[in-house]
Amino acid sequence: MENPWLLLALLSALAIAFISKIVFKTDQKLGPPGPKPWPIIGNLNLLGSIPHQSLHHLSQKYGEIMLLKLGKFPVVVASSPKMAEQFLKVHDAAFASRPPALAAGKHISYDNSDVSFSPYGPYWREARKILMSELLGTKKLDQFEQIRVEARRSFFSRLKALSGKPVVLREHLSRYIMSTICRMVMTNEYVGDSSIIDDGGMAEMMRDWFVLTGVFNIGDWIPWLGPLDLQGYVRRMKAFRKKSDSFFGYVIDDHIARRRDGADKDFVDALLDLAEDPNAQLHLTRDSLKSLIMNVVLGGPDTSITTVEWALHEMFRQPRIFERARAELDAVIGRDRWVEENDFTQLPYVDAIIMETFRLHPIATLLAPHYAIQDCNVAGYNISKGTSILINTWSIGRDPNTWDAAEEFLPERFMGKQTDMTGGNFALLPFGSGRRICPAYNLGLKIVRTTLANLLHGFEVELEEGMRAEDVSLEEQYGLATNPKHPVSIIVKPTLPAHLY
Ligand code: HEM
Repeated sequence: MENPWLLLALLSALAIAFISKIVFKTDQKLGPPGPKPWPIIGNLNLLGSIPHQSLHHLSQKYGEIMLLKLGKFPVVVASSPKMAEQFLKVHDAAFASRPPALAAGKHISYDNSDVSFSPYGPYWREARKILMSELLGTKKLDQFEQIRVEARRSFFSRLKALSGKPVVLREHLSRYIMSTICRMVMTNEYVGDSSIIDDGGMAEMMRDWFVLTGVFNIGDWIPWLGPLDLQGYVRRMKAFRKKSDSFFGYVIDDHIARRRDGADKDFVDALLDLAEDPNAQLHLTRDSLKSLIMNVVLGGPDTSITTVEWALHEMFRQPRIFERARAELDAVIGRDRWVEENDFTQLPYVDAIIMETFRLHPIATLLAPHYAIQDCNVAGYNISKGTSILINTWSIGRDPNTWDAAEEFLPERFMGKQTDMTGGNFALLPFGSGRRICPAYNLGLKIVRTTLANLLHGFEVELEEGMRAEDVSLEEQYGLATNPKHPVSIIVKPTLPAHLY
């Protein structure tokens, strides 16, 4: 070439083209793989009525980390233990927030002012701290043990009175666990004929809380469609808010009218003290008080109820599991007492049933959504600030690289092993992990263990006449807690000496 400048210009152009091709390609590669989004709806069309199952099927095609677009917003889904660890441990701080503009956060949680919905930051930290110090820490849980024992005993007495008759266990479990938590949180149950809400109304409010806080509301993802409320969820949220305003308003006024001190002080009293303290870190309005009380009263019980239900559904399909659990209980506890909370170190098989239930039927099948508060590189992929993160624990429990015979309910897989289920093992995450881990996992485990173990210990439990093991359904009803769609009706017969009931 005669003109060196021309040669240089040509070479530079080639180099620029080459580099920009690489950069461009890398840019495209930076986000996780995923299905191509449609205009406006993104990938919303790919979510069926059971979203964790739809996402599970998509992950078979796109992998353990995938990027979807729901309406106009990016959502990353993690479907393996390795990816869950990335979001909940390695980069926990970057993903410890919640999506800020969900209709449920606005209408149900009083503008995100409970612990579950509030964004990562000082309000959430202080609110969680008070929850631990006044309700869920070890000292408080020990102090409340008698409440749990009494509520359990009266549940078993009521069940004994129904022996021989078909019983839909969910209804009775719901009343008992609700009563346990209400008494721990606000001393009184405030439920029943003489109060402002009856058992049915309270159970309905609890169910609505879980359904409405877990829904995929189209207006959240395509905001300009929000005012049309196409699925009717916002209308239901507003109706729910009216009920919760009146119930939790009543609870607060009743506590203001007769404040308790010292040992008698309950969680609501502690919140009221804080609301009146001019030096408190946490600024609490009447609405945020309602929201924080509601979070535990309505958000607490259903998780435990549903876990016990799923365990029984699986066991009914394999009666040999009943036999083995009863044999363990007979050998360790004997026939002249109930199972207590501190017996669990000696009941590995009953605990294995619970772990296996959590594996196949995690209550929060998609955990509660996390949210990126900064750009972050995860496993080589760039995740931008403002992305929502779904951890598919339903998929993780079925991960064939982690679990043998993953689809089978086999408590034996946990026997002889030390398995952590409280956040240290990313293959089994019933309570999540990291900063947003369920603050009540100790309480949840105490309730689930003693309820299931004593049901098996104190009763013969059979299916209603005419129902066969293979008829017991494992069909799911999706919500923030995913519960059995068709609860079974059972017949119970007491098996311990009469004076124990
Ligand atoms: C078997 C029983 C339970 C299970 C399986 C369970 C499970 C969970 C899960 C999966 C989360 C979300 C974690 C995440 O976002 O990564 C959570 C959060 C939470 N749970 Fe539980 N839970 C149970 C019982 C309870 C009870 C009894 C209460 C209250 C009395 C409670 C209060 C909460 C609260 C307040 C949060 C929000 C934490 C935060 O966002 O910082 N849970 N739970």
